[in-house]
Amino acid sequence: MKDNLIIFDTTLRDGEQSPGASMTRDEKVRIARALERMKVDIIEAGFPAASEGDFLAVQAVADAVKERTICGLARALDRDIDRAGEALKGAESSRIHTFIATSPIHMQMKLKMQPEQVLEYAVRAVKRALTYTDNVEFSAEDAGRSEEDFLCHIIEAVIDAGATTINIPDTVGYSIPAEFGATIGNLMQRIPNADKAIFSVHCHNDLGLAVANSLSAVMHGARQVECTINGLGERAGNASLEEVVMALKTRHDVFSCDSRLDTREILTCSKLVSSITGFPVQPNKAIVGANAFAHESGIHQDGVLKNRETYEIMRAEDVGWSANRMVLGKHSGRNAFKSRMTELGFEFHSESELNDAFYRFKQLADKKHEIFDEDLQALITEVNTDTEEEHYKLIALKVCSETGEVPSAIVTIKVGEQELTGNAEGSGAVDASLKAIELLAKSTASLELYSVNNITNGTDAQGDVTVRLGKAGRVVNGLGADTDIVIASAKAYINALNKLEDKGVKKHPQV
Ligand code: KIV
Ligand code: ZN
Repeated sequence: MKDNLIIFDTTLRDGEQSPGASMTRDEKVRIARALERMKVDIIEAGFPAASEGDFLAVQAVADAVKERTICGLARALDRDIDRAGEALKGAESSRIHTFIATSPIHMQMKLKMQPEQVLEYAVRAVKRALTYTDNVEFSAEDAGRSEEDFLCHIIEAVIDAGATTINIPDTVGYSIPAEFGATIGNLMQRIPNADKAIFSVHCHNDLGLAVANSLSAVMHGARQVECTINGLGERAGNASLEEVVMALKTRHDVFSCDSRLDTREILTCSKLVSSITGFPVQPNKAIVGANAFAHESGIHQDGVLKNRETYEIMRAEDVGWSANRMVLGKHSGRNAFKSRMTELGFEFHSESELNDAFYRFKQLADKKHEIFDEDLQALITEVNTDTEEEHYKLIALKVCSETGEVPSAIVTIKVGEQELTGNAEGSGAVDASLKAIELLAKSTASLELYSVNNITNGTDAQGDVTVRLGKAGRVVNGLGADTDIVIASAKAYINALNKLEDKGVKKHPQV
């Protein structure tokens, strides 16, 4: 019998700390539902004390997701813990994750506290969190650069205080696998009450070692790994969930534990997170990159045709690649559409919402005969973005692009109650369209990112566009999908303008 490795997903919290990866409440709920379907054990939904928006998002996830444990982050401060406890009230199963830094540099320079004071705060925080839930995690921030003796001292104290999970973060991604694994082994051996808690790791990827460090820790006894979809996260990101889970599954001969995840949901989750955050997945990314299971060389292709295992260590369908199949078409009915959307985790709250989505689906099916799951995901994004408070609305767009001529666009948008028309020239049809919209909207936001990805294959595929705008310390991602990428780009720009208009969108949370 193998031990269970607890998969703690922090895409919605640490993942959201990637610059520009802010998610709205609805987007967080959609990702949380996808994580629930994949059966991750714990979903860290946010940092409730960071902002009102984060508080409401954690609350919404706790209300929507009932089959998983929902976690909220809190500094070792009464106010933070109370906010987390409050936000998690509706959860079926909740966890409070409290942390304080333990490395000399963080204690002296950031906290300006003595080690004994840090220990006092940690113990007090754990005790306070226990008044809200009996599932309390303590993290020793920057443990990777902390002194082992102090770690032993503080961890023993917080376990005595009632912490049930002890997390050892390599906050700055400084550790090396053999060293990090040995630290976990030492701590578990040296701390007298270590058997009363689960040891967890949380590794950052600054040296590209987050997954390797996490797996080394697992080999030395860690039984929870904190990770994110596509390795999203602060700076170079966190350990990638899909890589950790598939390493465990593929090399079950070397690991004495396994996860309970439904790995076939991995690709859907990856695509969802990528489209919501606007962070594309590089083609050669392990497990979820477009080339992860593609064989280019003739020798490899020949080998795979004779016996797949010659060059493949995993089955593509085990991580959801075969899910890229045609599910619906032009002739599909409303019921087939509704039931596939439900399988993808999308609930319609009213008949009119269903009718609206079905109408959009029919419009898409007229332009594009084969509708894949990825198209439906994009449609959901569109239904959601359109139902957000819309100050700006795209009414019409016409572009002129001709060899030897300067491309131009005429655009009509609604700004509040007013309909405005304007035109602009640009270096291409997309540039001209976005300039025309900006001339009318006068947002003065700066364009920080523009990216287009094809949702499926073929020239009739929808383009999934992300437009990232920044203004006065706020960064938002606008999303738009259409079989015409100029229109998708205009939709994405308008969506970003609406998000900037929404005062509920928080500034980047500070941990
Ligand atoms: O990287 C880190 O140390 C964190 C903690 C809050 C767990 O994200
Ligand atoms: Zn982190």
